[in-house]
Amino acid sequence: MLHDPNHLYIFDTTLRDGEQVPGCQLTTPEKIEIAKDLESLGVDIIEAGFPVSSPGDFQSVVELSKAVDDVIICALTRANKNDIDVAADALKYAKRPRIHTGIGSSDMHIKYKFNSSREEILERAVAAVKHAKSYVEDVEFYAEDAGRADLGYLSQMVEAVIAAGATVVNIPDTNGYCLPDQYGSKIQYLKDHVRNIDQAIISAHCHNDLGLATANSIAAVQHGARQVECTINGIGERAGNTSLEEVAMILKVHQQQFPGLTSNINSTMFTAISRKVSAMMRMPVQPNKAIVGKNAFAHSSGIHQDGFLKHRENYEIIRPEDVGLDEADIILTARSGRHALKHHLERLGYQLDKDQLAATYEKFLILADGKKDLCDDDLKALMQA
Ligand code: KIV
Ligand code: ZN
Repeated sequence: MLHDPNHLYIFDTTLRDGEQVPGCQLTTPEKIEIAKDLESLGVDIIEAGFPVSSPGDFQSVVELSKAVDDVIICALTRANKNDIDVAADALKYAKRPRIHTGIGSSDMHIKYKFNSSREEILERAVAAVKHAKSYVEDVEFYAEDAGRADLGYLSQMVEAVIAAGATVVNIPDTNGYCLPDQYGSKIQYLKDHVRNIDQAIISAHCHNDLGLATANSIAAVQHGARQVECTINGIGERAGNTSLEEVAMILKVHQQQFPGLTSNINSTMFTAISRKVSAMMRMPVQPNKAIVGKNAFAHSSGIHQDGFLKHRENYEIIRPEDVGLDEADIILTARSGRHALKHHLERLGYQLDKDQLAATYEKFLILADGKKDLCDDDLKALMQA
């Protein structure tokens, strides 16, 4: 598979790693609706499911393959023949199918999950890629728990699976264990030591157990990864996966750090798609979540509000319009200052001189001390009183 080294491939796994979270299960029509939104958002690959896991998941992969035209549809398997046969069957209608197969690569997984040896696991990895390759051209291999794997062994595994035909090599930090410089160095090591690495795309798949999933994915990109696996709202196993919207906005805000690197993501869809995924999966987004949290563009302290109202870039590194929000929020609480109060009163049509504002502000503080935040009706009542 020819790939563009200046393109960052966005691999969305909301419908697989995200959907496996307890309580987040979706029906096939719901998955189709999200997949179509992901296609409009500009993701390059949609991981549609793990077909062997249940008849419902198999059917979802079949239906998504029919419904989506322009995006690669990927199905997950373990490194065994039956999983791969079932995935290939589920992908039969996909215009651009990918099989994502793999096996544990850390000694921990080799010993305690597979009760096996490094040699035997390597053979199973190669056999799985060859079998997947008999069905589809595009085969991604994941070296599960690569975050804790021995680097020499991981390199050997990556080289062997590329030789067997893998087009993408996924280096998952399955347990969210690595620090950004450790994960970035791991990617760099593979680039420097795997002889055929240029024949494949390196993919970052990070979990958020230490709150580092996004930082680790970005470190991987800085060291040559050209695919990032992520989910809407960072939803996923345990503490979640890398958040798609965070990666995209980091690339946008720090463009100079990634010269020439492009993605197809249309960030103005973020707010809408985040809300839809949250509602459909019944998984609330934490208010302080970067980019899509309710408070991500809300200014509430007097110092920040005053600075923001003087010049929005004092406290705004991303324009709300860029993520599909109309405007930033100036929240009125007992921590707000006169400037914010004046802003809201003028918005409601009240013009006050300096003394009137000072007197109103005193009354406002008494009211605000007894409330979490104030709405327009509270302000109108204050003015009438
Ligand atoms: O976290 C992980 O290692 C995974 C693989 C199955 C890709 O989700
Ligand atoms: Zn994962």
